[in-house]
Amino acid sequence: MDTERKMLIFTLLLTAVCSPVFSGEWKATVVKDLDALVTSCVVVPCSFTHGGGLLPNSRLRGLWHRQDKFDQFIYHEDQTRVLDNFKERTQLLGRLGENNCTLEITDMKDHDNGPFCFRVEVVRKETNEPTKDKFSFVEDCVQFKMLHDAPKPVLTPPKTAIEGKPYTIICSVTHTCPSHLPKLTWNRGTEEDITEIHKQHHGGNWEATSTLTFVAEAKDDYTELTCTAEFYGGRKESSTTVTLYVKRSENYNHIIIPAAVGIGTAVIFGLLCVFMVKKYKKRIAELQSQVRAGPDSEDEKRRNRFL
Ligand SMILES: *[C@@H]1O[C@H](CO)[C@@H](O)[C@H](O)[C@H]1NC(C)=O
Repeated sequence: MDTERKMLIFTLLLTAVCSPVFSGEWKATVVKDLDALVTSCVVVPCSFTHGGGLLPNSRLRGLWHRQDKFDQFIYHEDQTRVLDNFKERTQLLGRLGENNCTLEITDMKDHDNGPFCFRVEVVRKETNEPTKDKFSFVEDCVQFKMLHDAPKPVLTPPKTAIEGKPYTIICSVTHTCPSHLPKLTWNRGTEEDITEIHKQHHGGNWEATSTLTFVAEAKDDYTELTCTAEFYGGRKESSTTVTLYVKRSENYNHIIIPAAVGIGTAVIFGLLCVFMVKKYKKRIAELQSQVRAGPDSEDEKRRNRFL
């Protein structure tokens, strides 16, 4: 009796410990709150585990429905069962066989705010009918905060550009639709001057970044740099502008050139002086010797005449 009881407890414990491993647990991880830009698109990250064991895509059916209405589908593989308002606007980006229930909604409308919940059904291979293994994850649903104005790009420029040196300016904008990125454009620069990066922030929030690099010239001083973000759907855009200040590069031409001219002039003038002095010294010496020689010869002549 005693050992029987012990065995029973042991078996129960073993079952409790092992059952989640063997049969799996019905659990969904869905981003709960997400910004959504009206007219654009949104991607809801979602993953789940189910009690049906390892199953391929074909044995799983994923559905998204309104939280309180289990028959109002915003996504269903059978389009005829999708609410009119959501027809052709939703698709599952994730592969169910990889436990990925990521949902995309395009052409967001103001009243699409949710909450929406994911439901998974295990279907029979032959009939495609759901088995008793199905689950609506009504505790983990997504709700949208509707944005009517596109988020503004943020520009992070260095303080000033320096003439003749490369100048780099970064434009970034946040969004929630990684399947259709916002387009970032500049009012100057060519394709080679621009690099784009896309990275994930927390939850379903993403950041698109465009970096523009060019060599600053004096003529760029006080010009405007504008970065424009155009969001998918083509009806929302926003831009940010900064004024560029270009610092003249550190050269001393304004000192060196006049100085060189000054020194050059001085040298030429100096040489001229030396030349002139030499010439006149020679001339003076000549004159002096003439003056000295002149009367002597006159005297001599006079003396010769008297003799
Ligand atoms: C789920 O699918 C989406 C869309 O294909 C993908 O971007 C995401 O990385 C996937 N998530 C995981 C956890 O694999």
